[in-house]
Amino acid sequence: MVLKSCFVYSTGVVSILLLIVGIALVLANVFPNVLKSAVKKEVILKNGTEAFKAWTDPPAPIYMQFYFFSVTNPQEVLGGERPAVVEIGPYTYREYRPMEEVVFQDNGTKVAAVNPKTYIFQPNMSRGPESDLIRTVNIPAMTLMEKFKDSHWIASLISAYMTFNNIGLFSSHTVEELLWGYEDPLLKEAKKFDSTIDDFVGLFYKSNASSDGEYVFFTGQQNYTDFARVDKWNGNSSLNWWTSDECNMINGTNGAFFHPIVTKDEVLYMFSSDLCRSLYALHTEDVTVKGIPGYRFVPPHEVFANLTVNPANAGFCVPAGNCLGSGLLNISSCKQGAPIIMSSPHFYQADEKFAQDVFGMKPKKEQHQTAIDINPLTGIVLQAAKRLQINVYVEKIPYFSQTGNVRTVVFPVVYLNESVLIDDASAKKLQAIVLEKNVVENVPFMLIGLGIIFGGLFLFLMCRQKVPESTVAEREPLLSS
Ligand SMILES: *[C@@H]1O[C@H](CO)[C@@H](O)[C@H](O)[C@H]1NC(C)=O
Ligand SMILES: *[C@@H]1O[C@H](CO)[C@@H](O)[C@H](O)[C@H]1NC(C)=O
Ligand SMILES: *[C@@H]1O[C@H](CO)[C@@H](O)[C@H](O)[C@H]1NC(C)=O
Ligand SMILES: *[C@@H]1O[C@H](CO)[C@@H](O)[C@H](O)[C@H]1NC(C)=O
Ligand SMILES: *[C@@H]1O[C@H](CO)[C@@H](O)[C@H](O)[C@H]1NC(C)=O
Ligand SMILES: *[C@@H]1O[C@H](CO)[C@@H](O)[C@H](O)[C@H]1NC(C)=O
Ligand SMILES: *[C@@H]1O[C@H](CO)[C@@H](O)[C@H](O)[C@H]1NC(C)=O
Repeated sequence: MVLKSCFVYSTGVVSILLLIVGIALVLANVFPNVLKSAVKKEVILKNGTEAFKAWTDPPAPIYMQFYFFSVTNPQEVLGGERPAVVEIGPYTYREYRPMEEVVFQDNGTKVAAVNPKTYIFQPNMSRGPESDLIRTVNIPAMTLMEKFKDSHWIASLISAYMTFNNIGLFSSHTVEELLWGYEDPLLKEAKKFDSTIDDFVGLFYKSNASSDGEYVFFTGQQNYTDFARVDKWNGNSSLNWWTSDECNMINGTNGAFFHPIVTKDEVLYMFSSDLCRSLYALHTEDVTVKGIPGYRFVPPHEVFANLTVNPANAGFCVPAGNCLGSGLLNISSCKQGAPIIMSSPHFYQADEKFAQDVFGMKPKKEQHQTAIDINPLTGIVLQAAKRLQINVYVEKIPYFSQTGNVRTVVFPVVYLNESVLIDDASAKKLQAIVLEKNVVENVPFMLIGLGIIFGGLFLFLMCRQKVPESTVAEREPLLSS
């Protein structure tokens, strides 16, 4: 009898202890904090860590896909009609971007490196060969015409040369030429007068397998939120036609790394070097990629809005006060005067007017937005797609008959989708970490659950112990009294 009630009472004591410990752990948030500090220790750029390995040689394949817009009615456009284009693509390149010449600085708080990108054509993931022809705006010609639009004399000379050599507003080039560069006859002629002119042009001319300057990153040793954040960049202005040192503002993370323990109200800065400025993205929804939970970050509408809607976008109006409308960014000053305008593909999130001005534009959120999905615990990028469109500002220039009666239009040339999806091996590792996190985080709740079970057992045993001592008949008057 004594042994039995001793057992019963220990059950009660165990139950209360479990409940106290469980609730204390929940309140003190011990396990999540332990886990977080373990992650913070692990995610640091230090020779030997997993994070360093993934940073120097990203394991997930990165693809750069190009979709060109070929003009179908060039004669009519010169006559003043609305341009019609067809989208031709994708032309897909695998992008390799290892960190090289890695040198640690300042006791391991910083690390310097160069980050050359190499593009390898993927015929199996492309619509056709790189020799496919695209008819689009002749960008060097448009640049030259814009440049001399106010100098009657030079303009007439150039215009005559263009007429003589059959150079017009539109030209046909292969995908390979448009991307990686070709010798332009008009610029070759111009070079005779000004030897500083580079007569090779291309959207990614000289970008293959070459470095865009030295970066200095924080390692995250001092503060985990600094992990892989760019501290300095000496952009190499002479590298290509499309970049210059006026555009060396850089901010946030250049590439696929974010600090661990991302919160929902965090602002992510990204994609600065192409746009010559930093954009930001905010949390919009929770997603699951290959079974791993992630937060999706997307640049909000305000990022692209016009001045009326978001006065903070005054910086988008270049030169100051000259605003093109929502969703467009004039990056002419970054492209040595070429009238290049950036937007989202198909003018997604831009003023409707721009999509209506060109027949063939069909903006769609899913296909044309830029988005990045990040695992909040580790900061690892699960999936990302950076989508940008390159347009040319086309207008009628009186001294150049080549522009005919063309309407003023932001003319789409090509859009790109630079995307990455976590590889299976990394996903498996991450799944294990997520599982571990879930188990560890649930330990206090399991303790509480056990406490409740023991409590129930205790009550049950107490009641059963009482029953044999008295009969139901004896208890009845007690209850009814
Ligand atoms: C990292 O360590 C390895 C082996 O100890 C060494 O060969 C390599 O040079 C180190 N890398 C850096 C960037 O210090
Ligand atoms: C590097 O660390 C050592 C020892 O921890 C310290 O004496 C030294 O001042 C540090 N140097 C710098 C540049 O922080
Ligand atoms: C880029 O360079 C690599 C190696 O130098 C070469 O194999 C590849 O074909 C080049 N890609 C393009 C698009 O020219
Ligand atoms: C860079 O980011 C910081 C905030 O992290 C911001 O204050 C600063 O204005 C940004 N710089 C540029 C050039 O966008
Ligand atoms: C700015 O955008 C809003 C909404 O898209 C539009 O109603 C307004 O007319 C625009 N303002 C200017 C000056 O373009
Ligand atoms: C774009 O900016 C350049 C200089 O920064 C300027 O000359 C040009 O007029 C602008 N283009 C438009 C369409 O506003
Ligand atoms: C990139 O985006 C385009 C549409 O914008 C889409 O068709 C394509 O499948 C995307 N590529 C990847 C690898 O997700």
